[in-house]
Amino acid sequence: KVLVLDFGSQTTQLIARRIRELGVYSEIKPCFISLEEIKSFSPSGIVFSGGPSSVYDKNAPLIDKEIFSLGIPILGICYGAQLITYILGGVVEKSDKREFGPAYIEILKTNKLFKGLKKNKKYKVWMSHSDRIEKLPEGFYALAKTENSPFAAIAHETKALYGVQFHPEVIHTEIGKKILHNFLFEICKCKADWNMPSFIEETIKYIRNLVKDEEKVICALSGGIDSTVTAILVHKAIDDRLIPIFVNNGLLRKNEPEEVLDLMRSLGLKVHYVDASSIFLSRLKGIKDPEKKRKIIGETFIEIFEREAQKFENVRYLAQGTLYPDVIESTSFRGPSATIKTHHNVGALPEKMNLKLIEPLRELFKDEVRKIAELLGLPKHIVWRQPFPGPGLAVRIIGEIDEEKLNILREADAIVTEEMLKSGWYYKVWQSFAVLLPIKTVGVMGDLRTYEYVIAIRCVESQDAMTADWVKLPYEILEKLSNRIINEVKGVNRVVYDISPKPPATIEWE
Ligand code: XMP
Repeated sequence: KVLVLDFGSQTTQLIARRIRELGVYSEIKPCFISLEEIKSFSPSGIVFSGGPSSVYDKNAPLIDKEIFSLGIPILGICYGAQLITYILGGVVEKSDKREFGPAYIEILKTNKLFKGLKKNKKYKVWMSHSDRIEKLPEGFYALAKTENSPFAAIAHETKALYGVQFHPEVIHTEIGKKILHNFLFEICKCKADWNMPSFIEETIKYIRNLVKDEEKVICALSGGIDSTVTAILVHKAIDDRLIPIFVNNGLLRKNEPEEVLDLMRSLGLKVHYVDASSIFLSRLKGIKDPEKKRKIIGETFIEIFEREAQKFENVRYLAQGTLYPDVIESTSFRGPSATIKTHHNVGALPEKMNLKLIEPLRELFKDEVRKIAELLGLPKHIVWRQPFPGPGLAVRIIGEIDEEKLNILREADAIVTEEMLKSGWYYKVWQSFAVLLPIKTVGVMGDLRTYEYVIAIRCVESQDAMTADWVKLPYEILEKLSNRIINEVKGVNRVVYDISPKPPATIEWE
């Protein structure tokens, strides 16, 4: 396995992915972990990621020089390469010529890292740096240069230390995959034995060994893919010593509780179902502020979950479907960012209840989880389901929530989903849903005046929910949605389409 040390690059996640795609298990850890932790991970190789700093910055993340004496091969990428140079006594300098985007490297020498590349040939790579290496530390030599960087790739053969100024992990670096392949197999002598089926097998084995005979594990099910896959993995390991708890918060979509329960039963999970709708709705009564709503829902969830969990004995673990992007947000060394919305999760639970965590998906990305879900035999509509926020329909009814509004929104939302599925658009977009606006507008139906609510349709495309754009749905689909919602949903006489990108808007309205 390979350890990727994160120095804050935008593409650190890609490095770990590319390594896994080559069949070698890899994990990302923040660059400030101790030498002891690094040793106990016992990696076959270490990659230093790039990063936004300059080695001369006051708070530049550095590394203990000892790491170079562990006998573990190291590949430094961009800032990582500069760091190796700097720590081992070379010179890094601010360059007035910044290199961003495509550049051509000329190979000066081939070695294990550049096996298969041709000397004196130029290859297209992707750069993103302003500092550059000016003088190599002792024992190093140049492997490649560009017009602006005399040391675009460097090596110390006997110590197995390598550095590249460009980014081999991005698709635009044509030879990137080859270089990573060489690092893993020629230099680190890794075996390509990591793949999804083996991941599933290893995870189940790990959980089985971890949880002792009399101990139990609880988990919260939402019906979403992350919690479902987590529950299946744990269930495969310890059968019914897993207690999946499904809390109906009264803020779910039409038929959702029944569908989730059916799915779980079909998977052989014995779900502990709690209908807590009335508690949630009574606490939300009269509350208009979005953050207050989120807070009440989060706290109520924790309270109910805790209460239910206490009905079982010997519960020692909480299994959670945390993914890598959730981890990085909470461990990033770049400091906290502003709270835009308080996301709903069960993060406060383990400490409060004195539980240990099982997070089998914490190194993975969403699409990797989807692959696992497919391998586990989950149906397509679960594997490719659109995200649904923890606070549910509460953040899709602007302002105060009540049963009447919830029912109106459920009907409208069901129509949106049905038509998106029918037209084949559901799986092409990131999210598509209805929002209820608590304002009434005048309409005419038959010969009568109506005075009813407005439904907004939100449909966005996105890669990671950090940015998003509204989808240019064909007019025919918008027309169908509007006609059906106005005709079929009592209490609505107007439909509008949200054409705001994120930023500055967000995906959900609250
Ligand atoms: P926003 O509205 O912030 O949403 O642009 C970004 C993505 O996150 C989802 N979302 C949530 N997911 N708990 C979740 O699990 C939450 O509290 C929550 N709030 C928003 C939203 O649906 C979108 O995909």
